[in-house]
This record gives sequence, structure tokens and C-alpha cells, in this order.
Amino acid sequence: MDVNRMYDELAYLWPLISAPEDYADEARYWKNVLRAKLGPGRHAIFELGVGGGNNLSHLTSEFQATAVDLSEQMLKNSRRLNPTVEHHVGDMRTVRLGKKFKAVLIHDAISYVLTEDDLRRTLATAVAHLEPNGVFVTAPDYFRETFHGPSVSHSTRSNDRTELTHIEYIHDPDPNDTTIESIMFYLIRENDGLRIEQDRHITGLFPIQTWVDLMVETGFTVEKWPYPVHEDARESYLLVGLLK
Ligand SMILES: C[S@@+](CC[C@H](N)C(=O)[O-])C[C@H]1O[C@@H](n2cnc3c(N)ncnc32)[C@H](O)[C@@H]1O
Repeated sequence: MDVNRMYDELAYLWPLISAPEDYADEARYWKNVLRAKLGPGRHAIFELGVGGGNNLSHLTSEFQATAVDLSEQMLKNSRRLNPTVEHHVGDMRTVRLGKKFKAVLIHDAISYVLTEDDLRRTLATAVAHLEPNGVFVTAPDYFRETFHGPSVSHSTRSNDRTELTHIEYIHDPDPNDTTIESIMFYLIRENDGLRIEQDRHITGLFPIQTWVDLMVETGFTVEKWPYPVHEDARESYLLVGLLK
């Protein structure tokens, strides 16, 4: 089965999979951290793996944002939603813009980092873009301790052209490795009838202590901010790294 079609030829469906209002609650926690650590002002922030820019859309009225994503198709969604943001195509493990920011953010896109080596490279990207005393914030969807799959979720949304039902089954095929798997189905009703597509996403799963250890190794002091935003009420944190 092909992988990550959601961020490629199916990216035009993103606004029917996920909408800015779904992120209002989460964005409040991000804003609280940024304000607590940076103080008042329209600070320069940088999001890696911005996707459709839904979470970022709640921050742009208060911060000056720059954003990167691997997928040009997903950036199209974010550009439409966030016209004041400077967007670039890039890989969070390797991209270097040659600029520094007060904060680097990686929202749920961090879940696409699958190995400890790639986590180290991603954290090095954050450090390369941070001013002294800069702040790094990230939010893995799951930690090894908090994943209790398998689980199924679904939603139906429509616009004037398309009705999309999105079904996601998430499970852990091998509890001894650092990944889990999502199988997705898209039931797409358009003028010419119902079409069904499938997709597969592999995402990372690491113990909380691994995150903390790798962030400390990269040069951060680490804080875990409670992040109770998930419907299943699982334990969740914003991981906040303060550059020494
Ligand atoms: C779930 S979406 C992010 C949605 C985003 N939080 C929002 O509010 O719209 C995940 C994004 O991560 C991006 N991504 C995955 N691996 C990446 C990498 N190595 N570097 C940059 N972006 C990456 C994908 O292209 C996708 O757009």
C-alpha cells in the first residue's frame, strides 16, 4: 500500500480532514508556553512540518511566522490559510534557512520522525535556527507509555464539491520497534459518485525519557507542560526545550 498519500495527491482533501477550529484548544497551550518563555512582543517563530497550517493559524495574529514542510501540496493549504507566513519546502531533519528565531515549533509532524538518529537530526535543525535563550516546543501524538491501540476514529465533512469520510485505524504491529502504523480509508463523494482510496502512515513511538534524554543531549533544558487536548484523555505533554 502506498504511504502518505494524504500529503501528496490527496492533499487537496486536507481541509475536509482537519480544520483550523479543531486546533483552537491546542493552540491555547502553545500560545501560553510562548508567552511565558518569550514575554510580550511580535516575536519571530519558525514551524517545521507546518502541514496545512491549522495550528499555526491561531498564532499568526501575535507572532511573525516562517514555516517549512516536506510537501509542496500541503504548503498550498497553509499558504491559503496563512498568507502572512513565509513558506519553504524542506525536510525538518536537514533544512537550514540561515536565519535564527526566538522559537522553533514542531506540532504533530514530529510524529513522522521514526528513529533516534532522525530525532537527533531534527533537534539539531531546531538548535541551528534558535537565537540564544531560544525556545523549542514539540508535541508527539503518542509516547510509548501512552499508546494503547488499536483504535479507530472517523469523521465526515463536506464543502460545495466534495463529501469526505475519513477513517483511521491505528495499531502497533511490532511493540519492539519505535514505530506504529495508521491505515486510512477515504470515502470521497464527488459529482461522479463515490470513490474509495486507502493510505498508510508510519509514525514514531518513543518513551518519554528518550525524548527528554535526546533533548538534553542536544543542549536543551527540558520542561514537560501538561497538554490535555486528546479525546481519549491520554497523558500528553508539550515538550519545551530551553536553549542554555
Ligand atoms: C499532520 S500534518 C501537520 C498538520 C499541522 N499540524 C496543521 O496544524 O495543519 C504532518 C505534516 O508533516 C510533514 N512532514 C512529515 N515529515 C516531514 C519532514 N521530515 N520534514 C518536514 N515536514 C514533514 C508532512 O508533509 C505533513 O504536511
